[in-house]
Amino acid sequence: METKILTISSDTGIEERISSLSEAGEIIQKGGLVAFPTETVYGLGGDALNPESSRKIYEAKGRPSDNPLIVHIADIDDLNNIVSEVPDFAKRLADKFWPGPLTMVFNKSDKVPYQTTGGLNTVAVRMPSHKLARDFIKAAGGYVAAPSANLSGKPSPTSAKYVIQDMMGRIDMIIDYKSDEDMDIGLESTIVDTTGDKPMILRPGYITRKMVDDIVGETDIDVTIMNADSKVAPKAPGMKYRHYAPKGELVLVAGDADRAIEYINKQIAAYSKDGKRTGIIGIDEFIDRYNADSVKNAGSKEAPEQMAQRLYTFLREFDDENIEYMYAHVCSEIENSGLGQAVMNRLLKAAGHKIVRLD
Ligand code: TXA
Ligand code: MG
Repeated sequence: METKILTISSDTGIEERISSLSEAGEIIQKGGLVAFPTETVYGLGGDALNPESSRKIYEAKGRPSDNPLIVHIADIDDLNNIVSEVPDFAKRLADKFWPGPLTMVFNKSDKVPYQTTGGLNTVAVRMPSHKLARDFIKAAGGYVAAPSANLSGKPSPTSAKYVIQDMMGRIDMIIDYKSDEDMDIGLESTIVDTTGDKPMILRPGYITRKMVDDIVGETDIDVTIMNADSKVAPKAPGMKYRHYAPKGELVLVAGDADRAIEYINKQIAAYSKDGKRTGIIGIDEFIDRYNADSVKNAGSKEAPEQMAQRLYTFLREFDDENIEYMYAHVCSEIENSGLGQAVMNRLLKAAGHKIVRLD
């Protein structure tokens, strides 16, 4: 299949932008697939109400078809068409966080095919804050099913470059959006199940548990989120798969900074001696103190949002650089921050839950 790359930048004129997006929207309406930017990660979009489109999405990603897709909307009025009920607390969460990096799970209406929900009676819905994403969703008819636009098992793409790497020849179009006007969160949306008595967080993200608590009072969290115990099935089916893993071996090191840096450098030195290629994800404040073939600066320990933004790029770069052994230094400041839960969740998955604690 030939994949068209559609470049849109902040300099693109309004008319050209509209005609480009209507071309992209038409592809979706005809049952094709288009990758598009959002404020979290790039999505791989198809018509959420067309079972054949959902089938194509699974095929393009190489993703198991029991792993449900998120339906993206651009207008809150469209929600009622695809869900059977919106609990009061979900309305309050939507008021506060939509458009934005929050996905909510509802009981689905008959309009949503089981192919989109992986056979479930529930449907996950998100209204992104990214303006171009919303314009695209409108042009596409209002309901765009979109997983992250990576091949299954790879880190979610935070730039068009990685979408092209994974999806070229597999989908109809990739929208390459060149602009910094939208905040780049870099991790997938927070998922909240609204079908129980209380909201339950199924996947941590930029919207933290505390932010949800502040609106609704009390929130549960799926016990499997930080747990390596694979005997309990996570409530978001996708969380059970081995995700976001680089080709090499990643180990997290937490605790006192001096000890962590010393430990990491010692391990790396041993691997280097054996001729292995090594990498470190380090904290800005200590960046000069790490030694490896590839040292990535994850930003300040006071700013977990920087690590969130950069993490998936680093994992992809390590693969491109053929790095075999990697360490990520996680400070208590990051671990204990609200967003730290999301960052740690993704890091733990990438590391296969290998973590060394030195305090
Ligand atoms: O930020 C995001 O959410 C991005 C962008 C593109 O919007 N999308 C994304 O989609 O991360 P994906 O498919 O990579 O992850 C969707 C997650 C999976 O873990 C899936 O199991 C869960 O959402 N999910 C979808 N529908 C669900 C449902 N009805 N009940 C429980 N979990 C659901
Ligand atoms: Mg994904």
